[in-house]
Amino acid sequence: MQSQLPIWIDQITKTTDLSQLEALKASLLGKSGEVTQALKGLAQLASIEEKKAKGAEINAVRDSLAEAFQNQIQILEAKAIEQKLNAESLDVTLPSPSFTQVGAIGRIHPLTALKEEISDFFQKRGFTFAEGPEVDDEWHNFDALNIPAHHPARQNHDTFFIEGHPTHLLRTHTSTVQIRSLATQKPPLRLISVGRVYRSDDLDATHTPMFHQIEGLVLDKDINMGHLKGLIREFCSTLFGVADVPVRFRPSFFPFTEPSAEVDIACTKKDGKLVIGKGGDWLELLGCGMVHPNVLTNCGVDPLEYQGFAFGMGLERLCMIKNGIVDIRQLYDGDESWLKHFGSFGF
Ligand code: DAH
Repeated sequence: MQSQLPIWIDQITKTTDLSQLEALKASLLGKSGEVTQALKGLAQLASIEEKKAKGAEINAVRDSLAEAFQNQIQILEAKAIEQKLNAESLDVTLPSPSFTQVGAIGRIHPLTALKEEISDFFQKRGFTFAEGPEVDDEWHNFDALNIPAHHPARQNHDTFFIEGHPTHLLRTHTSTVQIRSLATQKPPLRLISVGRVYRSDDLDATHTPMFHQIEGLVLDKDINMGHLKGLIREFCSTLFGVADVPVRFRPSFFPFTEPSAEVDIACTKKDGKLVIGKGGDWLELLGCGMVHPNVLTNCGVDPLEYQGFAFGMGLERLCMIKNGIVDIRQLYDGDESWLKHFGSFGF
């Protein structure tokens, strides 16, 4: 057994895995281990001397092995701690990783991105931004826009009135901003407004009680329908990235414009996907027209001196058409994976 010792010691010092070392220890010093069995075997020896001599030898081997195991275990445990410390070391002076490395934590919502894109288009063409309150009154939302009381158009607006204030309401369209702006500014002017509007519509795939509209107004001494058509054509081409996109001005009715038109853009369905800019179908995009003389008079502007055009569109609708989104509710779900797909670049 003595002669076996160097081999075992060698085995022990070469074992670098703690669980393998435990297994080796069990195979030598465990209950049925080789050394323990040898000690048990002493009983079979004939003479006392032999028992003594062999017993002393085996005990010495056992003690040496126990010590070797103890040392190796300590070495391996110290190594494991060192490795762990190295792996988990934290240098608080290091610059933090950039957000793009750890995954974007924020995205531009598709509605915000589109709003920026549209604002940019009009800003480049000399439009200034105008705003109006979301809680407004019947005068700005209806009367001044040539929609008198009992006019059927009022019913179409599904208005939310403010409890206890019968003449106040949540604005149903951003056309109110035309009236608000003309109270403080006089033509010539070119303005654009983007904001929330409210209608007590049912909530479904294409309706929400709150949505956004974009309103435009251009007034000057010699503005005509041709200016309106040129601007809208250019807007559609830019928005959908299609040069000379076919656009149709379909006669329509709005109380605040005369003549009025709804603008459709050419489209087609290909493999279940909507393709904008070509094909035999038409998709309605916005409403527009020449500002009604009554609206100008209501705002103290002489319609014989100034004229112009206005247009209005729903931001959500444009966003859905542009991005192939089929359910408006998804725009407000706050679903992270949806935003990752539709949202533009992270910060
Ligand atoms: N205010 C209209 C609506 O909410 C949209 C609109 C149509 C605005 C024609 C305009 C316009 O300025 O000229 O349905």
